[in-house]
Amino acid sequence: MSKKLNIALLAGDGTGPEVVREAVKLLEGSQKNYGVEFNFSENDLGGDRYIKTKTLVTEKDIQQFKNADAVLLGAIGHPDVKPGILEQGILLKLRKEFDQYINLRPVILYPGVETPLANKGPEDINFIVVRENTEGLYAGAGGYIHYGTKNEVATQESINTYFAIHRCIKYAFEYAKNNNRKKVTLCAKTNVLTYAHDLWERIFYQVAEDYPDIETDYGHVDAICMWMVKNPEWFDVIVTDNMFGDIITDLGAMIQGGMGIAAGGNINPDGTSMFEPIGGSAPKYTNKNVINPLACIGAAAMMVKELGEEKYSKDIDNAIVETAISLESLSAGKMGMSTSEVGDMVLNSLLSQNE
Ligand code: IPM
Ligand code: MN
Repeated sequence: MSKKLNIALLAGDGTGPEVVREAVKLLEGSQKNYGVEFNFSENDLGGDRYIKTKTLVTEKDIQQFKNADAVLLGAIGHPDVKPGILEQGILLKLRKEFDQYINLRPVILYPGVETPLANKGPEDINFIVVRENTEGLYAGAGGYIHYGTKNEVATQESINTYFAIHRCIKYAFEYAKNNNRKKVTLCAKTNVLTYAHDLWERIFYQVAEDYPDIETDYGHVDAICMWMVKNPEWFDVIVTDNMFGDIITDLGAMIQGGMGIAAGGNINPDGTSMFEPIGGSAPKYTNKNVINPLACIGAAAMMVKELGEEKYSKDIDNAIVETAISLESLSAGKMGMSTSEVGDMVLNSLLSQNE
């Protein structure tokens, strides 16, 4: 009896469907070897549907995702929809609705992949960012007074609760413990955010007491940006708040070879998690069969791991590594191969690991 896994495909906008297709091809083509049977259901959320029907996340969408073991997302973002509507109404809405309180973003440079950092290689760039994914500046707390006048005041508050910080930091230490990582670094700004990040720091050292074998470190976010460029080898697991996590993981994506390879997971360890390539919808490259599917395939590997299939996930990662080495570049349009050819290559590499 194979293990049945229901995956909702939220392919979304732009190049989303093209990269999700490759991830599905890989999973369908390899599932038998791992005793897994995927059942995919499609969801049409995204910019096109919004333009046609003016709907964002509906009760029906939520039901579909609830019935799934995980969601694989392609991309959200449409050139004809005002920025913010789809991001808030779909991506952030789903993170909140499903309490996906961790945003997990590996920053790993694969062998043979070019990094813009001089004299740094795969042994130097290999860390995981654990980003709090439900509150901070993303909580949506704030408002306007005297809107549209010269007396206007706008506030946007950073919400930081003991509960959310604690579960996030706990996750980071557990992650380190279970994945053979030695050190957890708190990235914050305690010298300026003297209340919110003081709370983060106190909880960080409190939780750390339960993990005597894991080293702890602290860095202000600005210094961490500097060190991610100059000494990325210092990092192993970084835990941080929502906004800082957003920013440092874009920097992370660049040092690991770009958006073509960067994957992430919005994780609720006890619920429905959602995995995504972090690159966006890339309208310029849409329907040209030139976008790099490796980030989405990497997201699928993270998903498979979260669903308990550790070996399957590792093998997919190995197949990505093998494929990445043979590409001319990881950038869209410069791979020396089409999207579907890259997908075929990952699948063949994965299948050959089981021969
Ligand atoms: C990300 C994105 C989102 C975020 C946007 C699209 C709302 O940048 O996943 O990092 O800020 O979290
Ligand atoms: Mn971002």
